[in-house]
Amino acid sequence: MPPASILFPEVVMRVLVVGGGGREHALGWAVSRSMDVGKVFFAPGNGGTELVGENIGISAEDLDGLVFWIKGNPVDLVVVGPEAPLVAGLGDRLRDMGIRVFGPGRDGAMLEGSKSYAKRIMKEEGIPTADFEVFEDPEAAKRYVKDKGAPIVVKADGLAAGKGVTVCQSVEEAISAIDRTMVQRVFGEAGKRIVIEDFLEGEEGSYICITDGKNYIPMASSQDHKRVFDGDKGPNTGGMGAYSPAPVLEECKDKVEERILKPLISALEKRGIDYRGVIYLGLMIVDGDPYVLEINCRFGDPETQPIVFRLESDLLPVLLEASEGDLKTKELKWRDGYSVCVVMASKGYPGKYERGKLIEGLEEVEKMEDVYVFHAGTKREKGKFYTNGGRVLGVTAFGPTLREAVDRCYSAVERIRFEGCHYRKDIAWRGLKRLGEG
Ligand code: AMP
Ligand code: GLY
Repeated sequence: MPPASILFPEVVMRVLVVGGGGREHALGWAVSRSMDVGKVFFAPGNGGTELVGENIGISAEDLDGLVFWIKGNPVDLVVVGPEAPLVAGLGDRLRDMGIRVFGPGRDGAMLEGSKSYAKRIMKEEGIPTADFEVFEDPEAAKRYVKDKGAPIVVKADGLAAGKGVTVCQSVEEAISAIDRTMVQRVFGEAGKRIVIEDFLEGEEGSYICITDGKNYIPMASSQDHKRVFDGDKGPNTGGMGAYSPAPVLEECKDKVEERILKPLISALEKRGIDYRGVIYLGLMIVDGDPYVLEINCRFGDPETQPIVFRLESDLLPVLLEASEGDLKTKELKWRDGYSVCVVMASKGYPGKYERGKLIEGLEEVEKMEDVYVFHAGTKREKGKFYTNGGRVLGVTAFGPTLREAVDRCYSAVERIRFEGCHYRKDIAWRGLKRLGEG
């Protein structure tokens, strides 16, 4: 079916974005710029998404609530941000109702929902990824790591909000990771099964593409910064900042597409999986060759923020075409330059954090050119914004060079204040170094 806007040019579309983080603000912002969009709804959204649409107060994981709302409030497209509702089958439920959904069904989302499933497909298809074994018995897993030695990586099989992976520098550490994951079940059912894989040393990058299950269109490459402190130190977070494009990946894009993306999409097709949404490859580039660390079934957060900020093309038609299983767009236009997103987080994040702190300085930053503040954990009350989550804001800036984008981004960040705020001061350092702009 062609998009409604082609059938009825006077019709403006209603789009529901599911999720409430920086990624969803960025997706909703990008979609709201389309001439064909009349209204964007967010479930549940955040303080910032209210500036581009309407928050409907339903959580992304409340599948029954979402279905009920959509029955009473018809929308032309649902864009699903986070993985959990996709793995829970939101895509299938909505498609069964005849609704266009950007996001795979449960079968496709299992690429992220089960690491062992994704690894098995990659092995069968010869897609480069670290060697691995899958275990359901902790004692057998311990024997394996003793035999293999360290460094080694222990991964909970299921969804663990990005926390299920332990990179172990010693056998003792690996044994304790196995115990925590499989015996103490700190990640719940996600740790019933584990994947143990070889440690890969290199530079990480994210390659995000949109697919209709047969064809794909790459979004720009990007690089995330998962550790909380400068110099990639401290515990892992959801991502403290990102930039796009990422030079390390630009240098090996063709290899990523030929060795990974194309065989992966044909593997899905071969298995009868009608995949309509994002394939996000978390990659390790080892001496110029890409290896898959993880496959996600959704856009990255915060990678989406710098990616959409540089996008010149209308995002809506691509999402619609993919959701209809007929991706016609062959190319996307990007601003020539770089964009950078710095995440401002609450005191204590990624551990326990406080909420309800007044955010100041946003009006000043609004006046800056080529800067936009995507909200994540915020709420709006009487026109003022307050912190309401661990990752609070994703301050995003564009520049003709990576250096200029970084400088512009930090000059915006420095104008924003809230009690206990912390952020990394070295976002994009690898890119700057590679480009000789460090
Ligand atoms: P994942 O959620 O699988 O991407 O893992 C989280 C993080 O753990 C990655 O971003 C990497 O920094 C690290 N990691 C995962 N797998 C490996 C591996 N095989 N070798 C080295 N580091 C890894
Ligand atoms: N930024 C990492 C992720 O979205 O998984």
